[in-house]
Amino acid sequence: MLLLYYSHIHLKGSTIKSQDCVHARASRVLEEIEMTAEVKERIKVLVVFYSMYGNVAKLAKAVAEGARQVENVEVSLRQVEELVPEEITEANERMKQIKEELADIPIATNEDLAEAGGIVFGTPTRYGNMSAQMKQFIDKTGKLWAEGKLINKVAGVFTSTSTLHGGQETTIITSMIPLLHLDMIIVGIPYSEQRLFSLKTGGGSPYGASSVSGPKADRPPTENDLEIAKTLGKRVAEIAKKIAGK
Ligand SMILES: Cc1cc2nc3c(=O)[nH]c(=O)nc-3n(C[C@H](O)[C@H](O)[C@H](O)COP(=O)(O)O)c2cc1C
Repeated sequence: MLLLYYSHIHLKGSTIKSQDCVHARASRVLEEIEMTAEVKERIKVLVVFYSMYGNVAKLAKAVAEGARQVENVEVSLRQVEELVPEEITEANERMKQIKEELADIPIATNEDLAEAGGIVFGTPTRYGNMSAQMKQFIDKTGKLWAEGKLINKVAGVFTSTSTLHGGQETTIITSMIPLLHLDMIIVGIPYSEQRLFSLKTGGGSPYGASSVSGPKADRPPTENDLEIAKTLGKRVAEIAKKIAGK
């Protein structure tokens, strides 16, 4: 690109050489052009979760890390609103501590959903399904649904259970049903992620990322679980970019 420029600027009585001005102006113009191209190329990925005891939050951070590995992807980490009354949280040391640890993560809004090209939803398993907190967040998307604002957004799901067969797959699959109503394009994890073949106690399946937290919810996601979660984040980001033609 050729930028032709001529200028004489008078500052406090002295004349700045036109050569310097040309240089400064040209660099600024070029910077602006590069920035505009970068912004146009960029795509947003939203990782939105609910976590009472911190396990899903750990998976969420790994999902976000995976999405960040994709070039020109801007990742936001958000949590959904709590429904548990404050006095109950206050009376439970563990819940209180986790709430404090997650306090700096903003609450997700419908705008966050509308702006994102890819959305990854994380919820603890509640009787084989998503948590009420996540369901409430999804149930507040009526306006977005009516306006078709979520059509073709790429979505993935992750969860955590206390027991090995406590419903990771049912939670992930049933969570996908409302996402289909919202016209999203759902992705899972391909078996090219070799960790899915692991026989160690843990999570991860073709349906999404997961972890097993134990009866007291105090067993954090394993290294394998976190790597699989990163794979999910990366995959959602990559496919969202392709769908957006970027
Ligand atoms: C009301 C309730 C229902 C639950 N249902 C299940 C279940 O169906 N299967 C299971 O394995 N764990 C179940 N759990 C345990 C949580 O899913 C598990 O502790 C999870 O790891 C918590 O995630 P978090 O640490 O992000 O809050 C349930 C917990 C609660 C409070």
